[in-house]
Amino acid sequence: MDADARLSRLRAQAGRVIQTPLKDLVAADPSRAQQFAVRVGPVYANFARQHYDRDALASLFELAEQAAVRQKLQAQFDGEKINVTEGRSVLHTALRGDVSTAPVARAAHAQALEARARMRALVDALAASDVTDIVSVGIGGSDLGPRLAVDALTGAAPGRFRVHFLSNVDGHAAQRVLAGLDPRRTAAVLISKTFGTQETLLNGAILRDWLGGTERLYAVSANVERAAEAFAIPPERILPMWDWVGGRYSLWSAVGFPIALAIGMDAFEAMLDGASQMDAHVLDTPLPQNLAAWHALTSIWNRNGLGYATQAVLAYDERLKLLSNYLQQLVMESLGKSVRTDASAVTVDTVPVWWGGAGTDTQHSFFQALHQGTSIVPADFIGVVRSDAPYPDNHRALQANLLAQTEAFANGQGSDDPARAYAGGRPSTMILLDALTPQAFGALLALYEHSVYLQSVIWGINAFDQFGVELGKQVASRLLPALAGDVQADDPVTRELLAQLR
Ligand code: F6P
Repeated sequence: MDADARLSRLRAQAGRVIQTPLKDLVAADPSRAQQFAVRVGPVYANFARQHYDRDALASLFELAEQAAVRQKLQAQFDGEKINVTEGRSVLHTALRGDVSTAPVARAAHAQALEARARMRALVDALAASDVTDIVSVGIGGSDLGPRLAVDALTGAAPGRFRVHFLSNVDGHAAQRVLAGLDPRRTAAVLISKTFGTQETLLNGAILRDWLGGTERLYAVSANVERAAEAFAIPPERILPMWDWVGGRYSLWSAVGFPIALAIGMDAFEAMLDGASQMDAHVLDTPLPQNLAAWHALTSIWNRNGLGYATQAVLAYDERLKLLSNYLQQLVMESLGKSVRTDASAVTVDTVPVWWGGAGTDTQHSFFQALHQGTSIVPADFIGVVRSDAPYPDNHRALQANLLAQTEAFANGQGSDDPARAYAGGRPSTMILLDALTPQAFGALLALYEHSVYLQSVIWGINAFDQFGVELGKQVASRLLPALAGDVQADDPVTRELLAQLR
């Protein structure tokens, strides 16, 4: 039986399980609340409120074994060229530790350490200058990870600089970021793996002109020549990355330079250590105790078994409010594929739409639909056990809301009044961090990365290319001269819209 046939069989299995309400599954299995949980260092996850039973779970783990996920994980860590469409290794794990002893991984780790030492020296040099503010210019994977990490961790480990982010090509973004900054006390870091990204080149030029030269301009790129050429940045102010680091997996590399500037180099390295701890767990732990396997198989179950088309991530910590934006790229750019690595079409659904936000705000916006809407939306709830804010009453209220939502989702509540009845049966996973330390944060992100890869292995797709986003870029560059009126557009609707824009 091929992989798609096995995945299709999950539907039949799910048809059986769904007959029993989720709360009855929990009630009938007294040790489920404890046993459907995994802890890795500061990260604890509880899957007891997912709508599966032990038989369904056994089939899921069997499915993972049949897909050889453990061998595929080892291949990734060892630097085999698992990004087959681009012929590249995928070694973001080597940026944060040396979990693999394979020569390719070892060499990558050595390169990463060298770049990290250079990055530390640049952080120190900037700290000794009178620069107070940093503008980080990049987009997608060259922006979302650093933006999230800076927002999440700045309070816990204050560094020497205020770090601002500029990504959107819309000039209003540049205008807003630069308002209130002093060019004499600001440095800019231009981050682009390719150094060919339109948004970053345009915004980089704005920064260069605003700074009045290249003296306080830094770059991070896998294309050092192009960075040097386009912006005349000297090599000592350009930090490297490599083709074995995917953009959306790159915050662990020198792409994390803004993170180190915001929270300090030691805290940045603590974040890498946390991720590495998760790496070691995922690589070494048998699947039934493996947190990434639980997470990935739960996603597969919800998508291919129960047929749910979207997935929410709800962070009950203000500092993680950008997590859903970050995960949208990580998950949807990685898993938004409909062709397998052997070039055949997939015949089951792959990635659901990921979306979310921060509790408790979202309770007062879209939660109505999650509680009583016609579409069931499985959710990852993320909570933080210890708060760093000096308001214990607020933290207790936050935690009460976190617990309440997941209980209400799962159990619902009957009523004689249909408008006031809650069906329940809405699955969720609870992920708790002991505290929002750099280590715990690094481990959480690494968990999601591994879950994404394991899902891609089960679906037989490549999680590391992103050809889908290329077409839009090509059409945009074709239309750029049309906006200036130099050429005509071929498409009649585009022609009419251009006339309106002009
Ligand atoms: O959105 C497409 C993409 O290629 C992402 O994968 C990448 O993170 C982003 O553009 C930015 O690319 P670069 O770092 O090369 O500027």
